[in-house]
Amino acid sequence: MTTIDELGAERLRDRIAGELERARARTALLTEAVDDADLTRQHSPLMSPLVWDLAHIGNQEELWLVRDVGGHEPVRRDIDDLYDAFKQPRRDRPALPLLPPAEARAYVDTVRDKVHDLLGRVPFTDRPLVADGFAFGMIVQHEQQHDETMLATHQLRAGPPALHAPPPPEPRARVADEVLVPAGEFTMGTSTDPWALDNERPAHTVRLPAYVIDAAPVTNGRYREFIDAGGYDDPRWWGEAGWRHRTEAGLTAPMHWRRDGDGWAYRRFGRWSPVRDDEPVVHVCWYEARAYAAWAGKRLPTEAEWEKAARWDPATGRSRRHPWGDEEPTAEHANLGQRHLWPAPVGAYPAGASPLGVHQLLGDVWEWTSSPLRGHPGFAAFPYREYSEVFFGDDHRVLRGGSFGTDRAACRGTFRNWDYPIRRQIFSGFRCARDAGPEESHP
Ligand code: AVJ
Ligand code: FE
Repeated sequence: MTTIDELGAERLRDRIAGELERARARTALLTEAVDDADLTRQHSPLMSPLVWDLAHIGNQEELWLVRDVGGHEPVRRDIDDLYDAFKQPRRDRPALPLLPPAEARAYVDTVRDKVHDLLGRVPFTDRPLVADGFAFGMIVQHEQQHDETMLATHQLRAGPPALHAPPPPEPRARVADEVLVPAGEFTMGTSTDPWALDNERPAHTVRLPAYVIDAAPVTNGRYREFIDAGGYDDPRWWGEAGWRHRTEAGLTAPMHWRRDGDGWAYRRFGRWSPVRDDEPVVHVCWYEARAYAAWAGKRLPTEAEWEKAARWDPATGRSRRHPWGDEEPTAEHANLGQRHLWPAPVGAYPAGASPLGVHQLLGDVWEWTSSPLRGHPGFAAFPYREYSEVFFGDDHRVLRGGSFGTDRAACRGTFRNWDYPIRRQIFSGFRCARDAGPEESHP
């Protein structure tokens, strides 16, 4: 190895250590905010007890880093099955003989100590699992993804508030209603982002006709117009499966909303607040998003339309890592990382807009797209099929952009999330799109 390589490896080690530390501080915050009884209880059949997520985070880290990358003996082989998400459906997890909170904490600490030892010695060879520190990056993202899941569990938790954060920033710019995206090719996905996960790869060219996309996510104010217009009672907007779900589930408003005099209140992390018109709507399922879009005379964007609006730079023709450029997100760019506990009003992040003037693509709310989850052309599962390939098909819809609860390590212009179209306990919202009219396509 040359000196430069040694320096590069040293910088990579420091970066990995910092990212592991940051993820663990967040995990600690989420699991120390409540007592042991609360950690072991199931707050919703949709979610795991928080103490399951905690030990599962450690178990994945043990499997991939301690055992696979490090080649070490198992720390606790006996618990692998308990923390295997495929063997244990969420609703059954509270009945399992889970590690109690103190043991779960000791377990994740032991695993982490071994990872720090190994990080000091690992050669970042060409082996795909360790090249550019990929396995470490995957584990950092895994922990941050479960931290967001735990945040969603906190949102479902009854009882007094346990989490605290300052409110998001106020609007700093006026935002247009819609933006025209001209017809043409762009690069979707990535082959070069070192910690991009398998479903974001490879980079490939996609050609789209001209379309129009909302410059901001759909707000509570707009969504209330849909409610007030009887949108929840009109099967025309919902499609057959959507209407069936709307009826069976008795949907009348976003999750966590209740009537409050003439208006609405929204329960966030144990506190009721009036619904604010200029904030993006959150906690809607894909069927609700699609019904709103149909009522508004629009549609949901495809995943490719979302990504072109977020990444394509008309000046250079290349796709950026983030809407604002390739630099890491800061507090000026986007409402990410649980710095705030709800979406920011439209116009709060002018520095985060894309070259075409599309705002708040990253952070605030995950945005439903019309697309089912599939592999990009040339997809290859790596390093395990269970991360994403087993979910490919029509059952899941893709969400893009991350929410206020998504960490920057687990969010970028290519990142893909997915869920069932009925799910809304996640921090999900949407924006609309439409085909460009003939006069818009040829100005
Ligand atoms: C990509 C967010 C759908 O939380 O189910 C966590 C991420 N995969 N552990 C999920 C994940 C394995 C996944 N999502
Ligand atoms: Fe997991």
